[in-house]
Amino acid sequence: MEDTAKPRYLVYIVSAIAALSGLLFGFDTGIISGALLFIEKDFILSTELKELIVSSVLLGAMFGSLLGGHLTDRFGRRRLMLVIAGLFVFGTIIASMANQVSLILLGRLFIGVAIGIGSYTAPLYIAEISPFELRGALVSLNQFAITVGILCSYLINFTFANHSGSWRIMFGIGLIPALMLSIGMFFLPESPRWLIRQGAIDRAKKILQTLRNKPDVSEEVNYIQQSLQVKKASFKEIFSPTIRPVLFLGAILGFIQQATGINTIIYYAPTIFQMAGFQNIAGSILATVGIGIVNVLATVFAIFYLDKLGRRPLLLIGLLGMFFSLLGLSLAFTLHTDITRWIAMFCTFTYIISFAFSLGAILWLMIAEIFPLEIRGFAMGLAVFNCWLWNFIVSSTFLTLLNSVGPSQSFLIYAAMCVFSFVFCYYKTPETNGVTLEQIEQNIRNRMPLRAIGQPVMSETE
Ligand code: BGC
Repeated sequence: MEDTAKPRYLVYIVSAIAALSGLLFGFDTGIISGALLFIEKDFILSTELKELIVSSVLLGAMFGSLLGGHLTDRFGRRRLMLVIAGLFVFGTIIASMANQVSLILLGRLFIGVAIGIGSYTAPLYIAEISPFELRGALVSLNQFAITVGILCSYLINFTFANHSGSWRIMFGIGLIPALMLSIGMFFLPESPRWLIRQGAIDRAKKILQTLRNKPDVSEEVNYIQQSLQVKKASFKEIFSPTIRPVLFLGAILGFIQQATGINTIIYYAPTIFQMAGFQNIAGSILATVGIGIVNVLATVFAIFYLDKLGRRPLLLIGLLGMFFSLLGLSLAFTLHTDITRWIAMFCTFTYIISFAFSLGAILWLMIAEIFPLEIRGFAMGLAVFNCWLWNFIVSSTFLTLLNSVGPSQSFLIYAAMCVFSFVFCYYKTPETNGVTLEQIEQNIRNRMPLRAIGQPVMSETE
């Protein structure tokens, strides 16, 4: 008991390094809105080409999440993290030094693949090295890093707003975290859970002893071994009636995180502020920096409270907050008065806060928790693929939606998605706080209803 301070310290450092991949995720998805304004000064770009430059990262991420799920189960979490660190460096160099548009596209595609693989390998790796009582906070470090990355990109967009040719610097700054990730991952250990699955028990024990700072880790090792013994290496099992419900849960959570409209605000906040009546471009960009700041702060709140209040209360309250904010936003655009813009601004901020302490952090956390070890990488890959697919669909249709039905109706559609999401989460989402990953797995194998898979295991036969 007395040795709890030091292991937490170590496990925090390991998690923080892995979470650099989240920082790159946020940075590289956020930087493009500003960089594009300068790219189009250096190259002749059609609208389609502009859309392609913006969406190349999302397309790469979709591809990466499909490709990498299987690879991380096969080659290990750490090795994959090293590969994505390399991809980030490589893609950033190509994109920032490009002398033709096709090279920008290629570089951004590489970065996208790295984001796609990293967006689940990082939370997965962190979940697997964490002691269960810290798992919520540590995995959410990844979401925290995403929000910090987004904020950095907003700040850089703002700083370089008046410097021509600055898109190369904007992209190039991403090299700093990419190199830090490459160097850091080199020194980090492999996931002990993955090692045990590979039969490398002694290595796993040593890593656990260091991470937990205690000589006796046999209880945790036994737990992991037991969870592996329940059923061996059946990849086909992924579509079995036992696994299908959690696979479905993961995929729907990925859908919900995007279909409730987060990236209409993260990617298009200045446009929304201008539509609401803030004419001044600099003012709109500055307000966007404000969005970035509250996004980070509300995520910090989630980190502190996910393991105390639990996942479900935060998720459900957050979804309600998102619903009312979107409703307010929709109403604001029907008012056409002087206060429209202030209501719109207020609702945008409350929406971001509600998202950040709920769906933002919880999606990545839950998909790292709910899948059995044997198929965890692959299953997470599928859930994450769905998330990127819907990110792509929502962000590439938002402007068209605005033009065809107007802002009021558009936000109403996302509000309706919040209602569906609330009902789904209320009935189907488990509370995974305070149980080990192995207990969750046992419950899934015992075919407990989805909502109950986070309960402590009662007995073998139940
Ligand atoms: C989402 C991103 C979003 C970000 C905002 C992440 O959890 O996956 O799509 O841009 O949160 O903070």
